[in-house]
Amino acid sequence: MSPSRTITLDGDLIADARALRDAFGCFTTGVTVVTTCAGDGRQVGFTVNAFSSVSLDPPLALVCVDLKASSLPVLEQAGKFSVNVLHADQEDMARRFTVKSEDRFAGLECETWDHGVPILPGCMANFELETEQVIDAGDHRIFIGRILKVRFDPEHEPLVYLRGQFRRVHTD
Ligand SMILES: Cc1cc2nc3c(=O)[nH]c(=O)nc-3n(C[C@H](O)[C@H](O)[C@H](O)COP(=O)(O)O)c2cc1C
Repeated sequence: MSPSRTITLDGDLIADARALRDAFGCFTTGVTVVTTCAGDGRQVGFTVNAFSSVSLDPPLALVCVDLKASSLPVLEQAGKFSVNVLHADQEDMARRFTVKSEDRFAGLECETWDHGVPILPGCMANFELETEQVIDAGDHRIFIGRILKVRFDPEHEPLVYLRGQFRRVHTD
């Protein structure tokens, strides 16, 4: 078993980032794809594990988006988005929504609900949200959305992300 490490962040950007990645990577998350669409109908989507529930009343959730994400201007402009929670057999979907040089939606039969954003098929859960608040935080932008509609199938096993890898967990 590897020993635990204690690291003081001292301003060495490369070393600090490595330590942070390794430490954050100890926190197991689910995997989602955030989608939205531009005014001209162009669809964008990208894989996100920085998704969290925020509030039940009002119904709020958040995603953290890298300032370098090319989808960011569309997400800001649209004022609405969907969060699609992937199940264990959707690792390909998670990878597809990180690849730069392809139409990430090619061959996917997405539906739309009330606000026109793509809802990915066959997911463990889908949330449709309207952007309520945007907060800049370091090199990310936090989008807090009001949840308008949900679909979920708790019978699926989730896709999880831990220590930089996609993994499965068996749920009883
Ligand atoms: C497992 C996983 C989780 C990710 N989580 C996030 C995230 O929470 N926020 C984010 O901005 N990017 C995240 N990314 C990176 C984006 O999916 C990736 O940079 C994507 O290509 C951005 O697309 P875009 O530049 O077309 O907007 C994640 C990637 C992976 C593989």
